[in-house]
Amino acid sequence: MAQRVRGVVAPGRNEPVRVETIIIPDPGPGEAVVKVQACGVCHTDLHYKQGGINDEFPFLLGHEAAGIVESVGDGVTEVAPGDFVVLNWRAVCGQCRACLRGRPWYCFNTHNAKQKMTLEDGTELSPALGIGAFADKTLVAAGQCTKVDPAAKPEVAGLLGCGVMAGIGAAINTGGVTRGDSVAVIGCGGVGGASIMGARLAGARRIIAVDIDQRKLDKALELGATHTVNSKETDAVEAIRELTGGFGADVVVEAVGRPETYEQAFYARDLAGTVVLVGVPTPEMRLELPLLEVFGRGGALKSSWYGDCLPSRDFPMLIDLYLQGRLDLGAFVTETIGIDGIEAAFAKMHHGDVLRSVVIL
Ligand code: APR
Ligand code: ZN
Ligand code: ZN
Repeated sequence: MAQRVRGVVAPGRNEPVRVETIIIPDPGPGEAVVKVQACGVCHTDLHYKQGGINDEFPFLLGHEAAGIVESVGDGVTEVAPGDFVVLNWRAVCGQCRACLRGRPWYCFNTHNAKQKMTLEDGTELSPALGIGAFADKTLVAAGQCTKVDPAAKPEVAGLLGCGVMAGIGAAINTGGVTRGDSVAVIGCGGVGGASIMGARLAGARRIIAVDIDQRKLDKALELGATHTVNSKETDAVEAIRELTGGFGADVVVEAVGRPETYEQAFYARDLAGTVVLVGVPTPEMRLELPLLEVFGRGGALKSSWYGDCLPSRDFPMLIDLYLQGRLDLGAFVTETIGIDGIEAAFAKMHHGDVLRSVVIL
């Protein structure tokens, strides 16, 4: 029977979010209902509320979540009731041209639940990134549930569902950071901070954190940076070159999503180096680069979608490393809050006061 639970709804452009009663249908074929335990507050939730993603209000916000599978629909074999799962927003199809080329992390046809969650009056909700997890329960495609070791704390595990995975993956999956590399990370929020942690995990020898906020640089040192550059005071490109024997870094991760910082990344990498763009730009942004430099510097200019992760491969692996004490995912949880604390968390995020606020349900 359909269930009534609490959920955080963004009713219209720039209107404050509200805790509403929402209706969760029973899972249909290929779907699962998940009892959410924790869900991180991400910039994308704020972008939804501001109407920056699309106009399909009302949104059910929240997408960096972990919880327990409550029930599954017909034909679901990948998870079962009682499983501890991290939700992902790229349930791969296995049949599109990317999947058929053996590159499922690029899947071009990822799927979500077919049925809709609604308000009590029947208004259909648009779940953020096909998840909608600032709610006691949510309905997703079963493939969006990735089983991980239940020994992990939900508030930590859930973060792998978005920003932290994007950052770690930008370094190790997209950037291919490996033992001995020099790496620079421009923008050290939740995403860039995770790239720093990923670079350390992969054995990078030098990890240069660049930010305009000193608090983020102090935190970056805790996450594994070996050097910091405050680019409000210092030229980022010159500083990165100086710290890399005059050459530039092997891999530069741009985790801001702006043309100026992309340009810094472009010039701060060594010849044949790699730039990874994981920051998300806005539609009006433009980039101008001398084409001769694009050619002459060689290497690779890459974008990282969701850290080019394969949830089924990467989530359980990263959770195991966390449980073994080799990956301090807990460092991203600045505070835990209640379901009514989301507007306050948006404000803190906007002021750069937190890496992540996590709602406990
Ligand atoms: N130069 C260097 N750092 C900058 C600059 C700049 N010009 N402008 C902003 N920053 C820093 C901020 O000080 C902050 O520490 O970038 C960081 C951005 O971090 P957050 O706001 O916490 O955002 P985060 O969640 O890390 O996401 C970063 O990745 O996934 C995308 O949409 C996301 O575009 C966003 C980016
Ligand atoms: Zn596919
Ligand atoms: Zn997110």
